[in-house]
This record gives sequence, C-alpha cells and structure tokens, in this order.
Amino acid sequence: MSNYHIKNLEEYFQVYRKSVRDPENFWEEIAEENFLWRKRWDKVLEYDLSKPEVSWYKGAKLNITENCIDRHIYSRGDKTAIIFEPNDPSEKAEHITYKQLHERVCKFANVLLDQGVQKGDRVCIYLPMIPELAVSLLACARIGAIHSVVFAGFSSTALHTRINDADCKIVITSDGSYRGNKTIDLKGIVDEALESCPNVKTVLVAKRINSKITMKPNRDKWLQPLLDDAYHDCVPVIMDAEDPLFILYTSGSTGKPKGMVHTIAGYMVFTAYTFKNVFQYRENDVYWCTADIGWVTGHSYIVYGPLANGATTVLFEGVPSHPDFGRFWEVIQKHEVNQFYTAPTAIRALAKERLNFSEKYNLSSLKILGSVGEPINEEAWHWYNDNIGKKNCPIVDTWWQTETGGIMISPIPYATPTIPTYATLPLPGVQPALMDENGDELKGNLVSGRLCIKFPWPGMARTIWGNHDRYRDTYFSAYSNKYFTGDGALRDSTGYYRITGRVDDVIIVSGHNLGTAPIEDAINEHPAVAESAIVGFPHDVKGNALYGFVILKEFGETRVHDNLRNEINQIITEHIGPIAKLDKIQFTTGLPKTRSGKIMRRILRKIAENQTSNLGDISTLLNPEIVQEIMDGAIK
Ligand code: WTA
Repeated sequence: MSNYHIKNLEEYFQVYRKSVRDPENFWEEIAEENFLWRKRWDKVLEYDLSKPEVSWYKGAKLNITENCIDRHIYSRGDKTAIIFEPNDPSEKAEHITYKQLHERVCKFANVLLDQGVQKGDRVCIYLPMIPELAVSLLACARIGAIHSVVFAGFSSTALHTRINDADCKIVITSDGSYRGNKTIDLKGIVDEALESCPNVKTVLVAKRINSKITMKPNRDKWLQPLLDDAYHDCVPVIMDAEDPLFILYTSGSTGKPKGMVHTIAGYMVFTAYTFKNVFQYRENDVYWCTADIGWVTGHSYIVYGPLANGATTVLFEGVPSHPDFGRFWEVIQKHEVNQFYTAPTAIRALAKERLNFSEKYNLSSLKILGSVGEPINEEAWHWYNDNIGKKNCPIVDTWWQTETGGIMISPIPYATPTIPTYATLPLPGVQPALMDENGDELKGNLVSGRLCIKFPWPGMARTIWGNHDRYRDTYFSAYSNKYFTGDGALRDSTGYYRITGRVDDVIIVSGHNLGTAPIEDAINEHPAVAESAIVGFPHDVKGNALYGFVILKEFGETRVHDNLRNEINQIITEHIGPIAKLDKIQFTTGLPKTRSGKIMRRILRKIAENQTSNLGDISTLLNPEIVQEIMDGAIK
C-alpha cells in the first residue's frame, strides 16, 4: 500500500511525480491493492477529451457496496460504520456497525426490488439526514439502480424538475424533518411536486417526525413495515466499472440544473484514495463531515469515501445553532471526533457569536480540520485554527466540485505546510493548469488565470444526464483538451494554488452554488416584474449574498415596494428554495446593456459591492445614463 497513505512532503512529491509520469500505472496500483473486484479491468484508462469520452478500469466488474460494506464484515463487523447524531441532543445517538449496515442495506435493497426497481432505474431520494438516507443510497447501489438525491431543502418545483429530468419512477422521502426547533413538511412538498410528475408510481415514506400526513392509495407506502418483512440478505448485482452510480444536480450559469453523472469504479477509487490521504484516516478514528448528503460533499465524504475505508463516519441531523451555538463542539466532545470537516460559512457564523461556545467543550480528540465549499477567508481560518484546532490541527482547505467527484487540490496533513486561504497543492493524479484569456496555458509560478484540469482523473463526472452536448460545451469547449472548472486561481511563487472564486455567473452563497439565470427566471414570473438581474456581493457570514436589480412593468405603481420584495423572495423560495432568497432588492427603470442587448453584470457587481469609483468604461453602453440612476438608488 505504498502510495495509499502519504506521510510527508518528500513522499508527496515522489508520489505526485509518479502520478504525472505514468497516471495509468499510478491508478492501477491503487485499484489493485485496495478494493474488491469481481473481474479485473482490461484497460486502466481510455480517453478522448474532445468528445469528451473517458473510461477508467474498463472491463472491470464490481459492486461498490461490497467494497463499502461486505469486505469489512470479516475484519470490522462489530466496528461502528455510522454514528447517527439526532437533531435533538436528548435523543440517543445510534451506532450502526458494519454488520448492521449490511443487514439494513440488504433489506432496503430487497424492498426496492419488491417495488419493481431494476438495474439502471433512477431512484429519487428526498430525505433528511437520518440513517435511511445513507442506507437508501447504498441500497440503490446494491441492485445497480442509479440514485438521484435531491437536497431536502429544495422546493417542490426544484424537486419535480429533477425527478422529471432523470425520469424517476420512485421517490423515497419521510413524513417530515427536524431542523433546529422547527419541523418541515417534506411529504407535503413531495405531494406538490408529484402533481407534475406523472411517471412516479411509488413513494416510500420513512417515519421521522410522526406528523399527520396523507398517504395516496396505491402510490404511497410506509417504509418501515416493508423493511420489517424484507429478507436480511441481498446478493449484490455485479456492475460494469463505467455503469452510472448516481446523478447529482448542480446549478449552471444558465438554464436548468445539470444532472452530473458519476460512474462506479473511478468514483470509488478516487473518493477512497482522497479520503484516506486528506484526512489521514487511521483505524478507530471517528470522522465527521457536517455537510448534507444532498450535496456532493455528503455523497463522497460522509458515505462512499469513508465507508470504502472501513471508517466510522458521523451522520448529523441537526444544525450548528440548535439548541445553541455550541452544538458542533458538544458533538465533537461526545463522540471524540478526530477529523472534522465543515464549511467556511458555518465557521463564520459560529465565530460571530458573542459567546465562544467552543471553550465549554473538550476538543482534544481533534487531529485534523477541514474546509470545503468556498474560499475560506483569513479571519475565519485563524478563528478555526486558534479556537477549534488550538493551533495543533492542520487545516485542509479542500478545493473540488460536484463535477470532480472528490477532492482535487488540498494540503495533506503533516506533509504539506498550510497557509491560510491556500488550497495548496494538487493531490496525486490531479494535473491543474491555469489559462490566460487567449486560451494559452500559463507556465511557471506567480501567475493567475482560469483553472483547468488537463488530464483525466478517475472521479470526474462522465456526462450530464440526457445531455452530453451540454457537458461538452460547458466543460470542454472553452479550452481544447482541458476540463474547465469555472473557477479562477493563482499559483504563488512556491507553486501553491489559491482559488479566487467563480469566473462565471454562478454565485456561491453559504457554500451553495446558485446560478443567476434560474433565479432571474423565477423573479420574472412575478406579474409586476419586467426584467431582473442578480449579482453577488460580499457578506460576513454567507461569503456572498444576492443583490437583485428589478425593473417593474409599471415603475412607480402604487404597490408598496416592501410587499413586492417579500413577494419576489416568496417566488424564489417556491421555485428554488429559501437558500436563493435575495438580501437586497433595488427597483430600477433600466439595466446597463451592451449594444447587443447583454446586461453588463460587471457594472452591477461593482454597484452592489459599493465600489463605484472605478466602474470602467461605460461609454459603449446602449444606455449609459442608467448607471447614475442605479448608483443613486443603490441599497447600502
Ligand atoms: C467552490 C463542493 C475555494 C468553487 C465540493 C467550486 C471552493 C465550487 C472550495 C464547487 C475551496 C469549493 N476554496 N472555493 N476550498 N471548495 N469551492 O459543486 O467555486 O457544490 O467551483 O462542490 O465551490 O461547488 P460544489
């Protein structure tokens, strides 16, 4: 297992060089040494990035759940696989051993089979962070069904769009969910969504909050009685390396959400390898990632990566602020967490509290801290380092994306010296490139440009569900033979990478990717709205918040603007979800446009950021006079 667990910087450079010199050999050794294959691959890598077509471990046969569960049963059967920590701290935590996980996944898989789910079918999962969520993913994988998890904070409209896009015939949900001291009526949201999903024939409902819900005859079934009756073993379906494992939607800068498709073998090898190295996971460590399984971070680093390593992974139902702002630290003390992985927005929210709750708890179990989802600012980094890590825990600032499947650029603890705000060095097997405006690669250090990846890696998404052209156009057309990430980055004098943020119309709010176009589309549905444009502006806790410029059909009409603002946010909540609500809404009579009619977002961004001293050249605008009006009405 020579290159599976990197221990120091010298070894990192050795392994990295090897991975670039001979990527196939590198990924072949990792695959050979660490997984259970039912048939060996014929070829490690085949690719053509112009199409783009990529296959890893072609010809191999496997089932990912045998790798995540069955093969651990012999050596770690009684080890805890999942610790479920409920929303309410007085509810008992649940420890699920690998043996128990095996039984739960098999039973769930048998229920799916009984409901007629077959290999290749898409299963929509809309569940809160309860054990059934992790179990349902694995149950799909056991029988070769493709899971499509929709984050349970999304609205019914967002849900039905995703169900229909993937043509799911079955939905797994719960009666409701807990969120701090609130409950959410998930089943009600599903019922509303399904009014627009004629192909869904079955809804399996887990009981979580014991609320009164209506069950539609013949369609809706309580999950528990079916599980109780199901057989405890289920033979895994043997899959091809390149069969799809799941679809996960991510926002684009335009149009409808993109269903990123990940395939089994490459994703498994990549998430397992990166998990082991980035978190330096050792047997008996307790690892906790606070993300929701509805996002890629949860797929890769709560479920697949940790379980493929036989790790103990915490599944947390709650929120950082309930019952108070000490909840994260209380959970770390309680379960003696060794690796803790969270988002900058959570760190900023906790750092802002007047009382520093972290002092009340014993955090000495911690060895490694992680950050993901957006750039971590210097202040948050130091607060995390000083108060939580006590200057004793390396912070891994991990850069990656839904599309990359797993972590791409990150320090390796104890090997890579960390610097605040730097994701530092690419992991072995990852070959970044910075590109200039002309499409040329920037060589050497001390350069900044657009971040691309110039060689395939096993965890990369293979396509967008049902739309391969869009996959090619979005990611492989900007620079030939390179994957374009949508992010900007700089490389400093030592070769360290710092991610500077999106260069497209995606805005990251509290770590969630939001495309401007879908939000604008939602706003424009309001009968009083003629046109709108959304930009981001810096926000203390969320990283970025949204600023909307809205043209009303009849400006100066009699309706109270505050009411309109509420209505606009209500429409956004209905179409996308509360995460996409606007912090500021300015009504205006026009938007700055180029002569070809494109909105000049650059100018709006400057106004939203209150940086109006250098707006740049506005003389080429079709309507330069509008800029002053917008500046005068700007919301500070
Ligand atoms: C941003 C989340 C800076 C980036 C895993 C990327 C980051 C987008 C970092 C993907 C980081 C993620 N530093 N920016 N450490 N991690 N990002 O698909 O803009 O939800 O393109 O995947 O988040 O977000 P996604």
